[in-house]
Amino acid sequence: MAIRNIRLDGDEVLRKNCKPVKEMNGRTAELIDDMFETMYDANGVGLAAPQVGILKRIVVIDVSENRDEPICLINPEIIEADGEQTGDEGCLSLPGLVGKVTRPMHVVCKALDRDMKEITIEAEGLFARAIAHETDHLDGILYKDKVLDGLYETE
Ligand code: NI
Repeated sequence: MAIRNIRLDGDEVLRKNCKPVKEMNGRTAELIDDMFETMYDANGVGLAAPQVGILKRIVVIDVSENRDEPICLINPEIIEADGEQTGDEGCLSLPGLVGKVTRPMHVVCKALDRDMKEITIEAEGLFARAIAHETDHLDGILYKDKVLDGLYETE
């Protein structure tokens, strides 16, 4: 496992469309391990593959307090979204900044797990926000494209 370099806003790789993963192999498994390590090292709640320069539809998320509930979503697709939440959001590709974004309060997401088995995940609150934010990355969308009152600096 290794910590990978996180690409920052302005890097064109963050604006590309990512390709679906067709099969699991050693290289992709290693990428997923590295994404978790990189996310935990940076204290993030989520990371998408393009943020480490790889144009594959893979995201990792952990919204738990103890940082012990790793979730890997491959080819994620939000199939249901309802409700609304507006709150501060940040991104490891825009360090030191936050901005208010409106997201669904509840989503249902279809994806593959790391064994390439189909899973359906239901998420609320922060978890729903993380899924929406990370799946946006796979389409080259950053949260700053959706902020309501601009970005501001964190402490
Ligand atoms: Ni992000």
